[in-house]
Amino acid sequence: MQHKGIKILETKRLILRPWKESDAEEAFAHWMNDPDVTKYLTWTPHGDIKVTRALLKMWERESGEPHIYKWAIVLKEGNVLIGDIAVLRADEFQERGTIGYCMGKKWWGKGIMTEALSEVLRYSFEEVGFFRIDGEHAAENIGSSRVMEKCGLTYEGTRRQYFRCPTTGERVDIVERGILREEYFKNAKE
Ligand SMILES: CC(C)(COP(=O)(O)OP(=O)(O)OC[C@H]1O[C@@H](n2cnc3c(N)ncnc32)[C@H](O)[C@@H]1OP(=O)(O)O)[C@@H](O)C(=O)NCCC(=O)NCCS
Repeated sequence: MQHKGIKILETKRLILRPWKESDAEEAFAHWMNDPDVTKYLTWTPHGDIKVTRALLKMWERESGEPHIYKWAIVLKEGNVLIGDIAVLRADEFQERGTIGYCMGKKWWGKGIMTEALSEVLRYSFEEVGFFRIDGEHAAENIGSSRVMEKCGLTYEGTRRQYFRCPTTGERVDIVERGILREEYFKNAKE
């Protein structure tokens, strides 16, 4: 594997592209300040758009780096910014990375994240050459569980009461999943 970084990706309904600081207004309004979105995430709602701007400024600055894989998800229809998806902790020697994603509530339940993750996995395995992609989610986060399952990430175990959600203060079980290169290509052939 050799790092390739962010490439603009396209699916039927979506464009996955690098971040710009000027995305802050839409990101803040659509999901980065919503406690329902951050419920099981490692961060809390931004509260102030300045936080979003500072974050996106950093993401824009790092977006040219070969080991960074963080995309803005844009709905082609109306050119609306609706969410984000990333391969985090991408390690060239291990040939491994961890998937992360979130999206505005208004667009949940339409198969959008399944569409985005399928394309990110295709890019990761077919173009970059990862050996393994991991995913983890709160056991009760059924939507995320289904997205990963549908994209072929196999259940590997549960870490009991492993994570305390910063948004709610509740402790939750964390489900670990993963897909190997050979599994991806086997699924792609079927
Ligand atoms: C998790 C999330 C990304 C799911 O995205 P999505 O685009 O709504 O998911 P999809 O529409 O592709 O759904 C895939 C499947 O999950 C089901 N699903 C989605 N949300 C669900 C929910 N809240 N409860 C039950 N099922 C759900 C869909 O019905 C679909 O099932 P099907 O294929 O059997 O019809 C989205 O809800 C979200 O952004 N949540 C907040 C952030 C988050 O939790 N991120 C993940 C952290 S690990």
